[in-house]
Amino acid sequence: MDLQITDWLSLGLRWAHIVAGIGWIGASFYFMALDFSLRHRASLPDGVKGESWLVHGGGFYHVQKYMIAPEEMPKDLKWFQWESYATWLTGFALMSVVYYWQADIYLIDRSVLALSKLQAVGISVAVLAASWLGYDVLCKSALKNNQTAMFAVLFVFIVAAAFGLGEVFSARAVFLHIGAMIGTIMTGNVFFVIIPNQKITAAELKAGRTPNPEFGEIAKLRSTHNNYLTLPVLFMMISNHYPMTFGHPMNWVVVALILPIGAIVRHYFNAHDSGKHGRALSWQWPAASVLLLILMVFIAWRPASTTADAPAGETTNMEPSALTEQAFTIVKTRCAVCHSANPTDFVATAPGGVEYDTLDLVRQYAAQIRAQAVLSHAMPPGNLTEMTDDERALLDAWIASEAQ
Ligand code: HEC
Repeated sequence: MDLQITDWLSLGLRWAHIVAGIGWIGASFYFMALDFSLRHRASLPDGVKGESWLVHGGGFYHVQKYMIAPEEMPKDLKWFQWESYATWLTGFALMSVVYYWQADIYLIDRSVLALSKLQAVGISVAVLAASWLGYDVLCKSALKNNQTAMFAVLFVFIVAAAFGLGEVFSARAVFLHIGAMIGTIMTGNVFFVIIPNQKITAAELKAGRTPNPEFGEIAKLRSTHNNYLTLPVLFMMISNHYPMTFGHPMNWVVVALILPIGAIVRHYFNAHDSGKHGRALSWQWPAASVLLLILMVFIAWRPASTTADAPAGETTNMEPSALTEQAFTIVKTRCAVCHSANPTDFVATAPGGVEYDTLDLVRQYAAQIRAQAVLSHAMPPGNLTEMTDDERALLDAWIASEAQ
């Protein structure tokens, strides 16, 4: 009997992480939209900034936003914070199971840097902590008064991190870390700033004092950052299924494009929810589409030195059957130690259900093999089976010949 504990842990945590994340982001989108939809009316009670009418679930909701304490503070005030904490906690646990526990496969790439497991995990944890501390210092600096400059510095900070991590970790770990760094900043904002400030404000209001508006303003700034970082962070988290993104030799450029694309799309919804129309809503989708197109073209283009072209000349003269035989041998030795019904090394069962035991299977999955091992070096993970560039080029030539 094989219980496959690692897989169950990773599946369970992934499930919980997604559920918590939906809860967090869902609530956050809802409150952003609610805030933007508030309308002021003269008849509103004192201290009410605005109200909104909503329809959902077979009834109508009438929400009013108080900026000062209502006459009677409700006993059962509902706070929204655990959605965020649970997302971070399940995310960190999932990262530990996949990237720390199996650091040899997922985190470390010896062709990038020969780290020990302990070193790699140590660097990873330090990077997460440092990203929060660095970001927090930025927010407290003079930059806080200039939103645009703040976003520009944040952008450079994240792209530089992607570049730097590329010198340390496997490519897919780089993207996961960018996601985890942004996620840590976002939850840090909730845990260290937004909720504490809200608690201070609530206590002041309860005591009948006027809270210092600065607490609210700081919380608002952090929550605006969170809002614009939401779509990029989700992209980074799902990108590890797509080696064309993280596996690109200049993958930090992909990060540099995804950040504005995500932020611009988010901006559209913010503008829409605040009742803007016409020209104020006309530029976001075209701008995001152009950037996405640039990203697609950039990914299709590769720096000449990274295209595997060395033995292409030799393979063109090769008998088709000899080429096929060599390609199959490469896949058997470099891939099928893991990707087999009976793996011989590293793993207990074929990862992702991908098996290359027969030539037919290899043919069937040729496009995936090309994506994982030719166009990117995502597989073998960490180049554990020491596949050479010549072998990647030969696979490329064989797959091209099969397609003819
Ligand atoms: C050391 C073991 C190992 C070796 C060797 C290996 N892989 Fe993988 N492979 C994995 C693991 C682990 C995963 C699961 C990755 C994940 O969780 O998304 C995987 C996933 C895949 C996937 C599916 C990706 C997805 O998103 O579902 C493909 C395709 C693949 N490998 C192709 C290859 C090819 C081609 C080779 C040989 C060049 C290779 N692998 C060599 C461990 C290995």
